[in-house]
Amino acid sequence: MSRMKLTNANLLETLESPEYAHVLALFMEKKARKKEIVFPPHGHENNVIIVKGGRVRVYLAFGDKEFTLSILEPGDVFSTHTRAYLQCLEDSTFLVCGAERFLQIITQYPAFTLSIIQVLGNLLQNSITIINGLAFKDVTERLAEFFVHTAEEKGIVTAEGIKLKLGLNVEQIAMLVGASRQTVSALLNDLAKAGILYKVDQRTIVITNMEFLRGLV
Ligand code: HEM
Repeated sequence: MSRMKLTNANLLETLESPEYAHVLALFMEKKARKKEIVFPPHGHENNVIIVKGGRVRVYLAFGDKEFTLSILEPGDVFSTHTRAYLQCLEDSTFLVCGAERFLQIITQYPAFTLSIIQVLGNLLQNSITIINGLAFKDVTERLAEFFVHTAEEKGIVTAEGIKLKLGLNVEQIAMLVGASRQTVSALLNDLAKAGILYKVDQRTIVITNMEFLRGLV
């Protein structure tokens, strides 16, 4: 099932248009570097942020475990008053505004709520997948489920099989499925040896036997 796209790509465009100059003026711009935890959990300032450029991982961390809840892209809205960490996957730029003020903005311009719904929908989807996986599935099933979902969302059909440009390395995939990097790396090697998939580069794989992965989910 592909996710209904409530596109927010034009949220930034709208915000940067002359009619919205007075709204844009309510935001401060903030830049952060790749890998930086730009907003820690429960920041003392209660802000709403819009990703202007880059990609940002939203995750929960307990001890040595991490769970990625969402990956934010340009136009996505989030807040600093959650239990999640926000870490830049690339050098990123943010538009930052106090939550109270943002509440006034969305009352006046309901279009902003589309981005919020999309982001929270994605966060909820990943949260349900994580709960489901932790409660009912082992790591192999979780990894298979991740590949099946990703293939449905953005797989490219090629003569060799379904190509997945994951945009994530093994460590980042491990965090998404809630397992260690070593476990995921070993599973990927097993799947490659069994001819189910092969690696094209660090962040790209081709799945040659999709039916096998579907059978695991
Ligand atoms: C418009 C201004 C906003 C206000 C006034 C607001 C208010 C709140 C309040 C009162 C809570 C409960 C906090 C607590 O239990 O300590 C909350 C939680 C939360 N908010 Fe907001 N919020 C706003 C915007 C947003 C936006 C834009 C997002 C993301 C797109 C967001 C995501 C969340 C999440 C994920 C939680 C749960 C946090 C957790 O339990 O870890 N909020 N918000």
